Amino acid sequence: MSKLLQEAGKAAPGSLPRHLAVVMDGNGRWAARRGLPRFAGHQAGVRALRELVRHHLELGIPCLTVFVFSSENWQRPRPEVRGLFCLLEYVLSNGDLGELHREGVCLRFIGLRDSLSDSMRRKMEHAERMTAVNTRLRFLVAVNYGGRWDIVRACRSLAGQVRDGHLGVEALNEERLDSELSLAGLQEPDLLVRTGGERRLSNYLLWHLAYTELYFTDCLWPDFDGAELEQALAWFAGRRRRFGRTDGQLTGASEL
Ligand code: IPE
Ligand code: MG
Repeated sequence: MSKLLQEAGKAAPGSLPRHLAVVMDGNGRWAARRGLPRFAGHQAGVRALRELVRHHLELGIPCLTVFVFSSENWQRPRPEVRGLFCLLEYVLSNGDLGELHREGVCLRFIGLRDSLSDSMRRKMEHAERMTAVNTRLRFLVAVNYGGRWDIVRACRSLAGQVRDGHLGVEALNEERLDSELSLAGLQEPDLLVRTGGERRLSNYLLWHLAYTELYFTDCLWPDFDGAELEQALAWFAGRRRRFGRTDGQLTGASEL
């Protein structure tokens, strides 16, 4: 770990995020620049993700959510979709899973599983069961996930509870809806990092990003290394998070 990352690990409470959400974008362009097939970019993306998890563990950041496959990614060419799922299945059946388990990582998948293959679903369930007891790092992987889907699914569940008489309409509030969403019980991401130059949310954790600091970088995902993470964390440490309040309220200084 570099000196700066080490310093970040000793940083004052509040200056490191507790939950980092990442949109890993730019694998295809990374590969194209090297004259390689897009799949090689996705493979390199997996290597960058391994490194990110290692830094997370070293820094003691307790929660990480990454966007692996969005509900819109089905529109990609079939061979690419197949390649992405092969890669995911491979990662869940090689040494990575055991390593995550040994390191105390609790792995969980968020997103709609119905349209995934049986073998994919089985591997996901196995990984979740195996790592369920771990508490050092909660690692959420969004597969076939969409922020709108998450909200609609929660509303449907609440509507069912109302219909069956278990919940009064007046009891519906933000906490109640939040408790039905995929990240229920977890603290909201404090920092979102999106690589690859785009400045949009692409239907990621729409509900949960309401107060999240948004960090966009042109760095392509496979190039996102410790130095890039340092930059993102340094930027985050410099943000003043007011949550709708004024600067004076935070510092105690008098304001007109
Ligand atoms: C992100 O990289 C990986 C996934 C969405 C699975 P891209 O594949 O979107 O890479 P670019 O944007 O084409 O460079
Ligand atoms: Mg992209």
